[in-house]
Amino acid sequence: MSLTQPAAVVVLAAGEGTRMRSRTPKVLHEIGGRSLLGHALAAARGLDPARLAVVVRHGRDAVAAHATAVDGGVLVVDQDAVPGTGRAVQCALSALDAATHAAAVAGHDGPGAPAHDPAPPVLTGPVVVTAGDTPLLDAATLTELLAAHAAGGNAVTVLTTTVADPTGYGRVLREGGAVVGVVEERDATPEQRQVREINTSTYVFDAAVLRETLGGLGRDNDQGEVYLTDVIAAAHARGRRVGAVTVADPWLVAGVNDRVQLAELGAELNRRTLTRWMRAGVTVVDPASTWVDVSVELAPDVTLLPGTQLHGRTRVAEGARVGPDTTLTDVAVGPGATVVRTHGAGAVLGADVTVGPFAYLRPGTELGTGGKIGTFVETKNAQIGPAAKVPHLTYVGDATIGEGSNVGASSVFVNYDGVAKHRTTIGAHARTGSDNMFVAPVTVGDGAYTGAGTIVREDVPPGALSVTGAGQRILEGWVLRRRAGTPSALAAERALADGGGGLGAQARAERARPGPEPQTPRDHAARAAEGRER
Ligand code: UD1
Ligand code: CA
Repeated sequence: MSLTQPAAVVVLAAGEGTRMRSRTPKVLHEIGGRSLLGHALAAARGLDPARLAVVVRHGRDAVAAHATAVDGGVLVVDQDAVPGTGRAVQCALSALDAATHAAAVAGHDGPGAPAHDPAPPVLTGPVVVTAGDTPLLDAATLTELLAAHAAGGNAVTVLTTTVADPTGYGRVLREGGAVVGVVEERDATPEQRQVREINTSTYVFDAAVLRETLGGLGRDNDQGEVYLTDVIAAAHARGRRVGAVTVADPWLVAGVNDRVQLAELGAELNRRTLTRWMRAGVTVVDPASTWVDVSVELAPDVTLLPGTQLHGRTRVAEGARVGPDTTLTDVAVGPGATVVRTHGAGAVLGADVTVGPFAYLRPGTELGTGGKIGTFVETKNAQIGPAAKVPHLTYVGDATIGEGSNVGASSVFVNYDGVAKHRTTIGAHARTGSDNMFVAPVTVGDGAYTGAGTIVREDVPPGALSVTGAGQRILEGWVLRRRAGTPSALAAERALADGGGGLGAQARAERARPGPEPQTPRDHAARAAEGRER
């Protein structure tokens, strides 16, 4: 065990957090895409402790389940009905002793239990205690605290900071420079309240000192609680060495007690996350409107445009541009990709793709190298091949689209029959017309074409052209008969009376203008061919 590896870390998370005014326990509220408790557990795990305990009571089941989900190795400790941070640590120590004993009996190497030492029954060595509501506290600061504890040969080392306004915090009491105790604001004398050095609720204790002192602490204070802070005076009274480390950066030790502090700390964490990425080569055009979770990974030369939010396990590769106004959760963005005004989750985007503006990527979307998902396009569970394009106004659900294919505007992959979902497969280099319905399950072969407005109900073989059978029908006078008296019928009557030959005044005026570009011979030929095959 190195000097800075603790025997245990205890994260206190049993408090009620009433000032949040929330049904959700305080430590489960999130900043930077991670719960307050998740941040505390990550910092704790960063110390590589032999054991990691979290003390729960308020919202017990939710907090315990979350702690275990975040870190499968945590020991969940229930605090009993006796209130206070001292009692919380006392409960943790009993549980850690029991676990140490059980491990020794089972013949495993427990913390402080080298194999040659027969069954030491209790935890020994340094025990770090942190609060579950201090999300910016990092492993580096805790490592410094442990190093100072070891270097000073201390029984207790407390992390302190000096603030302009110490209201509400426990004040650090010193005599001749040495720490002799901590007094809570509500129990402090007017003189003690002048002290601006405060207790951050982060400590290292020698396990034996906790065991000696915790049981003897009273509840003779304004709140009637067992105060962990009283261990400091008790250790000092026993002639044990008490040290302190003072952090210069108060953000690191700032706690969340209400939603105002939650937002302040969330913004500060985001600033720090963005600063880290900018130093690593990411351009963030507007840090104030860009939000990046702590779990996101960005490569050098990524550009984040204003209004971008990246969440979860989102990864953005080198040279990609994301934003403006884009929200991605668990999305992998390939190198050189462009993602504009897009909302996405659970998608994998290849190199050099273009997405948006106004795209909605749902889970299971995959877009191959150089592919395109364009404007007003929604995709779900869709594998779209390299250089394939879905440019406009289209829903692609449960589909495979092959390399180099193009899906015409305004198409729907009709995947749901009201009971079950079905897949559509489009081969490579297919060209499907505008306003197609692919009624799944159905396949369009490699190199096949479909005409505008095709309802694809049956498989289209490779290289075939498919069009929907019925030609355009014209029922003369239908509106006059069936919608008599409506503005439409009246307009039609006027046009017909005008001798328009079926065309209104407006249409005749259009016709009289110099005509548009003549159609190319190719267009005529294509139309004629299509007409013959109908
Ligand atoms: C505590 C410290 C105070 C310090 C401040 C820093 C004590 C007596 N006071 O006060 O010196 O300046 O933190 O923020 O320790 N908790 C439990 N069980 C309990 C009570 C609390 O696990 O019975 C947990 C809470 O969930 C929280 C932490 O301990 O994570 C601190 O509790 P809180 O009630 O916020 O203590 P403060 O009054 O802020
Ligand atoms: Ca607090």
